[in-house]
Amino acid sequence: MQDDVLFVHGGSPLEGEVRVKGAKNLVPKAMVAALLGQEPSRLRNVPGIRDVHIVRGLLQLHGVAVYEGDEADELVMDPSSVELANVADIDAHAGSSRIPILLCGPLLHRIGRAFIPDLGGCRIGGRPIDFHLNVLRDFGATVDKRPEGLFLEAPNGLHGAKIELPYPSVGTTEQVLLTAVRAEGTTELRNAAVEPEIIDLICVLQKMGAIISVATDRVIRITGVERLGGYTHRALPDRLEGASWACAALATQGDVFVRGARQLDMMTFLNVFRQVGGAFQVEDDGIRFWHPGGRLRAIALETDVHPGFQTDWQQPLVVALTQASGLSIVHETVYESRLGFTSALNQMGATIQLYSECLGGTPCRFGQRNFQHSAVISGPAKLHGADLVIPDLRGGFSYLIAALAAEGTSRVHGIDLINRGYEGFHAKLDALGARVELPEPVREGVA
Ligand code: EPU
Repeated sequence: MQDDVLFVHGGSPLEGEVRVKGAKNLVPKAMVAALLGQEPSRLRNVPGIRDVHIVRGLLQLHGVAVYEGDEADELVMDPSSVELANVADIDAHAGSSRIPILLCGPLLHRIGRAFIPDLGGCRIGGRPIDFHLNVLRDFGATVDKRPEGLFLEAPNGLHGAKIELPYPSVGTTEQVLLTAVRAEGTTELRNAAVEPEIIDLICVLQKMGAIISVATDRVIRITGVERLGGYTHRALPDRLEGASWACAALATQGDVFVRGARQLDMMTFLNVFRQVGGAFQVEDDGIRFWHPGGRLRAIALETDVHPGFQTDWQQPLVVALTQASGLSIVHETVYESRLGFTSALNQMGATIQLYSECLGGTPCRFGQRNFQHSAVISGPAKLHGADLVIPDLRGGFSYLIAALAAEGTSRVHGIDLINRGYEGFHAKLDALGARVELPEPVREGVA
């Protein structure tokens, strides 16, 4: 597709200001939560990204009226007429996002049945849904796997359960929350994920009337209630987008003020950014990130669940690490294939070697399974422009950073994938002085 390519002329620093809105990994889930209420909900700070459009479409298919609120970036969702959607219509969303799996609990509560199409999402590992289906069965749901998708029913209603996750999965923790809040009795979830987006979802549910407590040992307890109302909520800012712009500033020797970025959600990232040699200043309304001059330092880093170093920060940071002096080690412990994007960086002149051993940290669940999930990055590398094909959302943004840091012009293919999670990234790049352009439209009759 012609307009799915971006020409990036690298070699100049990004300078200026961008604004981040609500988090991609909270907003669609808060929209799903609106399904559980008896009254309309208002979500604020909603970014114009594709994942939001997909969930909006899914909610509308199920009878939820979704419209813009009076405030800018506000969505109103009225779930008073929820109904079972046509399977073929839902199936049209197959492969578009991973969010549909989170509709299971709310739909079972509201209409007693749910159909979930094949899921999409970034190809950064196998991304199974076994934890999701197991917890739904724990609540009393039956799951019928058919070629076109999953059909779920709850013949005896949903009841609270004692659950221990094999791994603190973000999505499964959200699945439990969205199901337990209206299940009969209490639910105890052990080894839960506690990412800031999950805590924000808990705030949303509490506003609706849910009773949820989070203990310090990753145990979440939920007391089911019979009725939930609507909510008014301002989504927490996108700490993943914030970090992406920070890495872009560092890798291009630039200076970017990220309006909306919040220190509390980014503390772990900020520590690493400083260790590498980046500078930042926290202001009331955002964080300024810049390259202070001099050499960047190599580091050893391991991704982990919150409060560890978030896996979604890893890919943009790796691009910045290609500019650090010495050997950096990155051990990816959340997704088994999230370092595959580095082969294109090597084509651009980086020196990154992947290993299947757990390097530089604690052994993880991928160590014995032959996944190349550790990287040694040797820098500083002089990057040059290349033809790049975007593999996944964060990897895609990281290619843009690499292309901006490189000498010469890169052709970045598949940029539409970036629209899934970065609102108006092209306009933001323009505002930061990046030299990026879409190709001239193909004239009619010209192949
Ligand atoms: N896992 C299973 N079985 C399951 C569910 C998960 O084995 O049923 C495994 C996964 O394969 C993975 C690990 O558990 O190895 C963690 O997956 P998790 O469930 O935590 O991830 P997710 O909910 O699918 C969300 C974000 C990701 C983010 C991760 C980790 C959304 C829509 N996606 O994914 O975001 O990387 O949590 O924080 O919230 C992104 O924004 O680019 C992105 C990929």
